Amino acid sequence: MNSNLTTVLRESAVLRRSFRREFASAVRGEGVYIWDSEGKRYLDFSGSAAVNFIGHGVPEISAAIAEQVAKLEFVHTSQFTTPIAEEYAEELLAFAGENFRGGCVYFTCGGSESIETALKLARQYQVEIGETKRFQIISRQQSYHGSTLGALSVSGNRKRREMYLPMVKEFAHVGIPYCYRCAFDCTDSCFNCGQQYAGEVEAAIAATDGQAAAFIFEPVSGATLGAVVPPPGYLERVAEICLVQGVLLIADEVMTGMGRTGRNFAVDHFAVNHLAVDRGKVAPDILVAAKGLSSGYAPLGAVIVNKKIVDTIASGSGAFLHGFTYNAHPISLAAGRAVLKYMQAKDLIAAADSQRDGTAAPKLRRYLDGILDLPVVGDVRGIGLLLGVEFVADKKSKKPFAPEKNFAARVGQAAAKRGLMVYPMQGSVDGISGDHLLIAPPAVITAEQIAWAVVQLRASIEEAVKN
Ligand SMILES: Cc1ncc(COP(=O)(O)O)c(C=O)c1O
Repeated sequence: MNSNLTTVLRESAVLRRSFRREFASAVRGEGVYIWDSEGKRYLDFSGSAAVNFIGHGVPEISAAIAEQVAKLEFVHTSQFTTPIAEEYAEELLAFAGENFRGGCVYFTCGGSESIETALKLARQYQVEIGETKRFQIISRQQSYHGSTLGALSVSGNRKRREMYLPMVKEFAHVGIPYCYRCAFDCTDSCFNCGQQYAGEVEAAIAATDGQAAAFIFEPVSGATLGAVVPPPGYLERVAEICLVQGVLLIADEVMTGMGRTGRNFAVDHFAVNHLAVDRGKVAPDILVAAKGLSSGYAPLGAVIVNKKIVDTIASGSGAFLHGFTYNAHPISLAAGRAVLKYMQAKDLIAAADSQRDGTAAPKLRRYLDGILDLPVVGDVRGIGLLLGVEFVADKKSKKPFAPEKNFAARVGQAAAKRGLMVYPMQGSVDGISGDHLLIAPPAVITAEQIAWAVVQLRASIEEAVKN
């Protein structure tokens, strides 16, 4: 081992994400900016990992956290409920809309814990209605639902799963519509191939021979594919299939929820009927939120559960057989509740609405579309304030860069040098190759800040091409 590497390996007592690179030490945040210990300023163009939606350093949130911790820091959910849990759950149900009227919220410390909770809830519901054979969870090949073993088993992100495969239970993974690289030579914006992909869900359910408990999906694909929006009619058809087959629908809105796409939740984009009257409405049985829920001010996740499931368990066994010491932690809930209040007061979801002129989302899209002239930028896509930029070695053939080139990571490094934070990912094409960036800034970003960021991004891409 070379001595430089040894130095990097041993310089920290923190088990970091990588021993092969340096990390700046972040000490302060305000608005769209983060400062490191050397005084360097970074524009947070990816909301860290699509986490921060309201901006950094909002005093209302720290005040709410301080007020809660001064009153009551913690109680265990086996012994007490708390006013903040009760009030905030009501508010979140109202925020989630009609589909969750009469439902309940289960609070956790983040996305993966929430996914585990959702999977177990789905299984328990099936058992309680006498469908004891149903335990399989169908998911999609290019997806990410978390890093715990249960969540990994239903994720399709090859790189993040491969090593742990012997430890996870494997269920069926179906294809995912990805219009930039559509497998079908379509001319109708993927409407028909969307239906074919939905047919894969139907076939996968049939192949389980009555053992399918739930189907889990990201309504807009997050980090794995880079903000891929499904074609019209696809999710509506999937929802219909699941309903008819008695398979629960779990919407993973860890990344897309809480306003990020310009609606309260991304499924709200698909509530419009594309098929026929009274059919095809995307109404998940369970919806999972995290990231933007607390905007990163405290570890928080929420599993929002519909009335059907809650009533079944309440009138059946009467107990959900699951729990974490820190679920419904009062400090995290204080953060989340204050974030919800703040984003509503500041009308931040409107700022993320691609269809509203003059707001951040259409401006961001317009500026990012401006880098499509670069020979290595193959696609700019997404919705609201969740956009993806896909890189290609050859624009005409859409050939990706060789994975060992680490092209997206190199763009990310060049950007960080310039004081711009983006979220680079690899694997969009087949789980290994395919480089893209996720762009997901806080909704308080201004037109000037977007313009500056895109100039830096262009220069960073050009630098990565040269090196
Ligand atoms: C769609 C999706 N689901 C689940 C998770 C896991 O969330 P967490 O990292 O908070 O455990 C993530 C994290 O990136 C995600 O993007």
